[in-house]
Amino acid sequence: MAKAKKKYRCQNCGDISPRWQGQCDNCGEWNSLEEEAGVTVFSAKHDLQTGGRSVQMVDLNSAIELPKRCSTDINEFDRALGGGLVPGSAILLGGDPGIGKSTLLLQTVANLAYKGLKTAYISGEEAVDQVRLRARRLGLGDAPVSLAAATSVRDILTTLGDGEPPALIIIDSIQTMHSDQIEGAPGTVSQVRSSAQELIRFAKKCGSALILVGHVTKDGSIAGPRVLEHMVDTVLSFEGERSHQYRILRASKNRFGGTDEIGVFAMQEKGLTEVANPSSLFLSNRDDHVTGGAVFPALEGTRPVLIEIQALTVRLASGATPRRAVVGWDSGRLAMILAVLEARCGLSFSTCEVYLNIAGGYKVSDPGADLAVAAALISALAEKPLPSDAILFGEIALSGDIRPVAHAALRIKEAEKLGFEQVFMPYGGSEVKAMKQQKFKTLRNLVDHMLGRD
Ligand code: TYD
Ligand code: MG
Repeated sequence: MAKAKKKYRCQNCGDISPRWQGQCDNCGEWNSLEEEAGVTVFSAKHDLQTGGRSVQMVDLNSAIELPKRCSTDINEFDRALGGGLVPGSAILLGGDPGIGKSTLLLQTVANLAYKGLKTAYISGEEAVDQVRLRARRLGLGDAPVSLAAATSVRDILTTLGDGEPPALIIIDSIQTMHSDQIEGAPGTVSQVRSSAQELIRFAKKCGSALILVGHVTKDGSIAGPRVLEHMVDTVLSFEGERSHQYRILRASKNRFGGTDEIGVFAMQEKGLTEVANPSSLFLSNRDDHVTGGAVFPALEGTRPVLIEIQALTVRLASGATPRRAVVGWDSGRLAMILAVLEARCGLSFSTCEVYLNIAGGYKVSDPGADLAVAAALISALAEKPLPSDAILFGEIALSGDIRPVAHAALRIKEAEKLGFEQVFMPYGGSEVKAMKQQKFKTLRNLVDHMLGRD
């Protein structure tokens, strides 16, 4: 006998609880549990081994039809997607408010429309006139895009289902969409999930590419149910600092390509422009005689990006607790490098305030940055500038050893293109024949070299 069972879902994390309670067991949020539409649960007595249809099993090694991709005519966007939009696929684009999601998508949709493809831009956040104004400002006012301001999924799908289906559908944003199949206000977990499900089903059926804009929460993850990320084929995030002009488009999941490529854009007067040479963006105007600066060739997927690491140390007169402030890097990692410099190399930072900054508002997660950070710190403390034509990379172990990092050749090649002439790097790893190489075994060797003790 089937019976309806009540369940309660946390609107914060999506966890399910069989009864209502004030606090979610999973994420600890208060008053976040809401009743979900009843689900029918059959008693488990049925034996599932009989009564079904048999499923056809196939070889792994049979002919495949590769999806035909459609270029967005924005190279950096295509690159992040793994080569263009795949018809019938769903993409979730997340990012902080004001980062430029709507701008990027408007430019994309206009490009496709100019190529003669049918496109639809559905805005649930802005009025039609606002979108038109933005398009005009971007110089795209005459693009033959079908534009609508709507939030009812039923209305949207009824409209789109009429006539030839669009090649690209933009939904800005999924949190504003409302499906009348279930109850609840737009933005709740069940509404977001159900609206997304309907839209994705339509896109798959009609072979349209679908891009859903998703809001992000305070900690940067896409708001709403985590399942949203499972439902789509590709998850892209648009990152960057509002105060800086560069933006990075990064895939964190991609069923049709790799997740290690990034697209780099700059937000300008006339919208987002592509940045083909990101290194120029992150290397500030460098001066030969400034202490505390080091250039690190970071790797974004297979793409090297040269960035400047800046360190500043300030001696404290009294016994006050010295500050450590980091922008763009992990503060735990900085503490580790400081500890290794202190314990293995005899350099004391305990009476100094230490500030570390990655120029251009870039965020580094590549562990190969350790050596460049250490060199910037040593340079700041000893007031000795590093050679301005040098790049540095290497991972530092707690023992003070410097370990090789991946793709040394790629990093060196990019630096060479930009006029750098020497590299400070670890021993080991693959051999690279290029520019002057100074190899260091331990951090102590680097300190000795920089202080002129070797
Ligand atoms: P928007 O695309 O609305 O961001 P999102 O959809 O992610 O919330 O971007 C808005 C910001 O971009 C806004 O602060 C102004 C800026 N901007 C420019 O600098 N130049 C432009 O040409 C456009 C259209 C926006
Ligand atoms: Mg927007």
